[in-house]
Amino acid sequence: MADTLEQAFDAERFRSEGHQLIDMISDYLAGATAAQPGDRVMPWKAPEAQLAYWQDDFEQPVLQSALSLFEDVMANSVQIHQKRFMGHQTTPTLPVTILSSAVAALLNQGMGVYEMGMVGNTLEKILTEDLARLLGFGGEASGFITSGGSLGNLTALLAARAHSTEVWHKGNPENRSLAVLVSEEAHYCVDRAARIMGMGEEGVIKVPVNDAFQMRTDLLEEYLEKAKADGKQIICVIGCAGTTSTGSYDNLAEIARFSQRHGIWFHVDGAHGAPAAWSPKYRHLVSGIEQADSVVVDYHKMMMTPSLSTALLFKRSGDAYKTFSQRAQYLWAEQESEEWYNGGKRSFECTKAMSALNVYAIYRTHGRDVFRQNIERLYGLATELAAILRTDEAFELAYEPACNIVCFRLRAADNPEQLNQAIRRLVVEDGRFYIVQTILKSGFFLRVTLMNPFTTATELHELLQHIQEKAAVVQAAG
Ligand SMILES: Cc1ncc(COP(=O)(O)O)c(C=O)c1O
Repeated sequence: MADTLEQAFDAERFRSEGHQLIDMISDYLAGATAAQPGDRVMPWKAPEAQLAYWQDDFEQPVLQSALSLFEDVMANSVQIHQKRFMGHQTTPTLPVTILSSAVAALLNQGMGVYEMGMVGNTLEKILTEDLARLLGFGGEASGFITSGGSLGNLTALLAARAHSTEVWHKGNPENRSLAVLVSEEAHYCVDRAARIMGMGEEGVIKVPVNDAFQMRTDLLEEYLEKAKADGKQIICVIGCAGTTSTGSYDNLAEIARFSQRHGIWFHVDGAHGAPAAWSPKYRHLVSGIEQADSVVVDYHKMMMTPSLSTALLFKRSGDAYKTFSQRAQYLWAEQESEEWYNGGKRSFECTKAMSALNVYAIYRTHGRDVFRQNIERLYGLATELAAILRTDEAFELAYEPACNIVCFRLRAADNPEQLNQAIRRLVVEDGRFYIVQTILKSGFFLRVTLMNPFTTATELHELLQHIQEKAAVVQAAG
């Protein structure tokens, strides 16, 4: 009789469960694409109810097969592959990446050193250099893949600091105040990264935005002068290629000119929006990105890859090695040299997922054009939604969307904030659509991110009707 450990590794049990799981996932995908108006995309449960449910599950006897568990998890999660999912910037993953994720989990390569990530480290080089070329960088550019835009942005800021100070090696004995210049609309991870690096709240100098939520580049000189007068050293200016709330693109060419005038590192947070470069129709949005010193791009946002998979690109590949220059005798024979194949020399992570395989599998099985098509469909859908909203007196469109993020609200004579907040809550609890919310200069707005290429104008019209029905419920309740 095999003991539990042997049974847990049993290949035949895996084969049988695996076949059934593939059928289950295939049915899920087919069902999501064919979902009907009444189907739920958000199986809402309040946190305490969710906890009670899983605590009860946790106490149950060990399962004979994992399938019922997976079924339960799938039923209780947001259905991202459904076309009425219009919430956060999370992509419906391409089916091939579900398969590649299984292979990556099986191989479980460590990645930090070449020997434990021979394929993965190589794929990272090929993929990031391909992305760098797409963005217009020259042959010196390269990068690697890291776990998420937040970590990517932190790593880029560390590189910027290593470029202009000795803090990495010597600390900050003179207690110099370091700071970054960034749009007030930047993702919160930039603020968090600066604070992690000891710059504090004062170290994040937030440049106001214009009515299109783009950084006011006309204010950069003034903000720099003021920072200098306050005794601060600016180590980086950050441009946003797709802000989180509104999807706005900063004028990157203008920021590049500013950074060159003053010799300041230029980083672009293109986590969401840099893949616009795949489309001839939208690539103008990232014009100037090729002058950045570093760029972050999330494959897991607009490139249909499972979380987390972020490209961190450097205009001069050598810059990446300054960030974490450190000795690790047991890992690398050559401590000082630049070795692209030893991933841990440049990445914060030591053991790291082989997420490059997911991206590579998309390139190799579907080709590059799948990325262009996705961008054009999703950005086009946002333009369609904006056009509908503009002609419907009941709604207020917050701005002209540049990408696939649209913010709007239902007009109300009295207290639109309260009404739209109540609508959003009811929409989530109802579950037939999933949309989110944001706070802009003029208050609370509903926020839609069109992430599913199967969404059509029909679902957009249905959503607006659904919102009006929820508004009627709120108003009836007084
Ligand atoms: C513009 C931008 N930058 C960075 C991030 C953080 O990326 P991640 O969630 O991959 O850590 C986000 C996430 O939404 C984002 O929208």
